Amino acid sequence: MSAEVALQIPADAAGLADLKQRAAILLTRGDLEETRSLVDEALVGLPEDSDLLALRGTCRARQGELSDGIQDLASAVMLNPRDWELLNNLAVHLQQMKMFDEAVVFHVKAINNSEPEHHPQLYINLGLAMTGQGDFKAAVELFEAVLDVHPDMIDAAVNLSSVLNSLKEYARSAEVCKRTLALVEAPELYHNMGNALHRIAGRNADAVKAFERAIELDPTNLKSKHMLSLLRDEDMESIPSDFVAGLFDDYASYYESDVIEKLRYRVPGLVRRYLLKATPGRTHFPSVLDLGCGTGLTGVMLRDLTDFQKGVDISRNMLVQALDKKIYDQIEAVDLQVSLGEIDRQYSVAIAADVCGYIGRLDGFVTKVFDVLESNGLFVFSVEESFLADYEVSAAGRFAHRRTYVQKVLTDSGFKVVTGAREQLRNSAGRPVFGMIFVAQKPA
Ligand SMILES: C[S@@+](CC[C@H](N)C(=O)[O-])C[C@H]1O[C@@H](n2cnc3c(N)ncnc32)[C@H](O)[C@@H]1O
Repeated sequence: MSAEVALQIPADAAGLADLKQRAAILLTRGDLEETRSLVDEALVGLPEDSDLLALRGTCRARQGELSDGIQDLASAVMLNPRDWELLNNLAVHLQQMKMFDEAVVFHVKAINNSEPEHHPQLYINLGLAMTGQGDFKAAVELFEAVLDVHPDMIDAAVNLSSVLNSLKEYARSAEVCKRTLALVEAPELYHNMGNALHRIAGRNADAVKAFERAIELDPTNLKSKHMLSLLRDEDMESIPSDFVAGLFDDYASYYESDVIEKLRYRVPGLVRRYLLKATPGRTHFPSVLDLGCGTGLTGVMLRDLTDFQKGVDISRNMLVQALDKKIYDQIEAVDLQVSLGEIDRQYSVAIAADVCGYIGRLDGFVTKVFDVLESNGLFVFSVEESFLADYEVSAAGRFAHRRTYVQKVLTDSGFKVVTGAREQLRNSAGRPVFGMIFVAQKPA
């Protein structure tokens, strides 16, 4: 060990305790680089100190090195297997990695037979991990156990009402919110109550009041604003762009694991399959424009078919992930409601995979796509299917479209409809969501 490093390691127990305390304060303040350099240096001399490992693990996770952080936390747990705070910390980070089965194991160890009265947060965390596993009923029991002894615990009521909404137990969910709101106000509870009430026949006016109160308490609350505009304006033509950008910026870090593992998202593969089916024998398209490219899941499926691929999206965090894949020659942040971005060529293929759910009225968008395609160029896109209206907002807050409406918009814009295949696009709450994959061609 060099003399310089040796100087950083406190010689006595009091000095070490002081260093750990300083690091913990820096971590709480969010000063991650300072925490890291303090802890890294101390770990050189004390590589098996569980507190230092735990501090570095938490710090690494917050710096975006989630799996290295988890590794440190797991080493700390091995050295100190009875520390419930450490066990909980590891479990929470496993949860962030969507490793729900492992998270449940460590949450149970952290609880170690203690009662919800004494450690309510541990029960809530276990409930969240079980929700992640899809065991909604067990999660409900845990959140209820906490509310039995802490009826004003907002976190427990918010999570319980969210799970009940997922289980479509709307009356029960609204009741949970109402009971807790009688003791303490919280925008998230009004939001969940609004979500439950608007799905109960005849309760739309109450739902509107709940969303209004949620916005009064938190004017930055985009989710409640979105729901309120849906309830007030039945003719909504698209989902507000700032809402979509915020939604996907928040979703970006776990979008792929969510849609692939939990939702069994099939659209990227279907886009490739129907593109090739529409052009028998052809496996090369000079240029592809991926509209609403997200993290690039569809771009990955098409890269080998083209020389030039551009991805555009409104969410910068989704685009960061797309950039990492190195499958796009160009990437641009664009609001598709306004334009398709800078166009420096006529494209052979345009794609919109799972994007029309955010655009209700399609004519303006489809016309723009028509304009950027070369003669014989192809537009391949998915829509969720509505049987009631040309386009309508589903319970999930996204648009679904009627087949005849999509066909009419395409032909009115000048396209020839090649395919409109009915397919299972993904699952939602364990049930298949059906929709259509359209292939349309610009005439020669
Ligand atoms: C469900 S994701 C699909 C992403 C990708 N196409 C895929 O197949 O994985 C929808 C994407 O459309 C983007 N999007 C929705 N509305 C948009 C708009 N108005 N302008 C640009 N991008 C938009 C979202 O940001 C999001 O990345």
